[in-house]
Amino acid sequence: MSRSVRVRFAMASEKTRVLTGITTSGTPHLGNYVGAIRPAIAASRAQDVESFYFLADYHALIKVQEPARVQRSTLEIAASWLACGLDPARVWFYRQSDIPEIPELTWLLTCVAGKGILNRAHAYKAAVDRNRAEGEDDDAGITAGLFMYPVLMAADILLFNAHKVPVGRDQIQHIEMARDFGQRFNHLYGEHFVLPEAAIEEHVATLPGLDGRKMSKSYDNVIPLFAPRETLRRLIFSIVTDSRAPGEPKDADGSNVFQLYQAFASAEETAAMRQAFADGIGWGDAKQTLFERIDAEIAPLRERYEALIARPADIEDTLRDGARRLRERYATPLLQRLREAVGLRNLAQAAVERREGGERRRELPAFKQYREADGRFYFKLVEGERVLLQSAGFESPREAGQLIARLKREGAGVLRMGRSAWLSVDEREIAALADGVAMDEVVSALARLAEAEA
Ligand code: TRP
Repeated sequence: MSRSVRVRFAMASEKTRVLTGITTSGTPHLGNYVGAIRPAIAASRAQDVESFYFLADYHALIKVQEPARVQRSTLEIAASWLACGLDPARVWFYRQSDIPEIPELTWLLTCVAGKGILNRAHAYKAAVDRNRAEGEDDDAGITAGLFMYPVLMAADILLFNAHKVPVGRDQIQHIEMARDFGQRFNHLYGEHFVLPEAAIEEHVATLPGLDGRKMSKSYDNVIPLFAPRETLRRLIFSIVTDSRAPGEPKDADGSNVFQLYQAFASAEETAAMRQAFADGIGWGDAKQTLFERIDAEIAPLRERYEALIARPADIEDTLRDGARRLRERYATPLLQRLREAVGLRNLAQAAVERREGGERRRELPAFKQYREADGRFYFKLVEGERVLLQSAGFESPREAGQLIARLKREGAGVLRMGRSAWLSVDEREIAALADGVAMDEVVSALARLAEAEA
């Protein structure tokens, strides 16, 4: 199973990678559903993309300092996305804090990020402006977490070399910063990062809330996505309307009730409702129709949601499994290359380099394939005279060649340490470390080889 999953993702690597983060600081509401969850899940079904959806719980800590709320929100958001149809077998679904390479990359990026750029981040600037307006010190009450928010977000994106990041307008600046940090890193240390692009969601509906302003937790005007049926009904009936009586024609386009209806209804249903408004439908009837329409879509999802949320351990497993596979496939090998690139290296190797002649460029590692007297096919990984890896014997040259190709393509991330010096790929021992060679040296040799070939 793990083999087929990996092979599938190896093939998927040519697809466009699309990445979406969801901060775990609240309970999903209908506005999130219509504006983010529903379109994102529809997009995740496309064949030509490799999608990444993650719960940005490190980001949540910037805003929320109540542990129980962070935990609850993470559970609710995970269950909501799953209930709405996100399939963890075909997209990457994971939790930010399960990927230690994200904070590790955050630091590497912090060390190239311009402080002046961060000074100009909207969220930080807005906080400073509020302080000034109140006659406070510029940075009063502002944490370094808020200031560093864009660097953490850049790490989320760059770690997976995402091509596209669907975001609202308020997040465009963050994507530009991610490009900037990635570019600076590439400039200093070689081409490691794809520069991501914001995919602006122009057509995504913003839903009005109960009071007619945009539905948003900060206005306290939301309808929770999975409110119990009766609560949904009560909230819908509390939507603010004008005081036109039944029988009086009503303006559909200016009405929150109509806009909400439109977000759930087909074109024909919407046209019929528009006519009903013109014909003077009463607000009570309009709200009842709205309630029934929303509930028809949400009820089956709500049922799944309740089943999911009753089994939090299963959600925990799903998230951990996603993170484990994703680290193996992308995060761990990339961080190995980056550590090498910035000079966080095995010291024993530096000694080898010096012995071999100071500033002279090290020879590139290479794979050598050959046949032994036993009739079997072998390979080794060498660096100059030094042998790093010695393979087991294979029945065909093709088998040996495929493993070499895989090591070149995926790096040391596919190797598992086994008994004594043996290394396995997919649970099969394929090669051993040569005498006196440390695993780190293989990791960095494969990384340099990949870099040279890229
Ligand atoms: N900042 C995003 C928001 O508030 C959440 C987020 C965190 C994110 N990391 C990301 C979005 C990476 C896209 C990519 O909505």
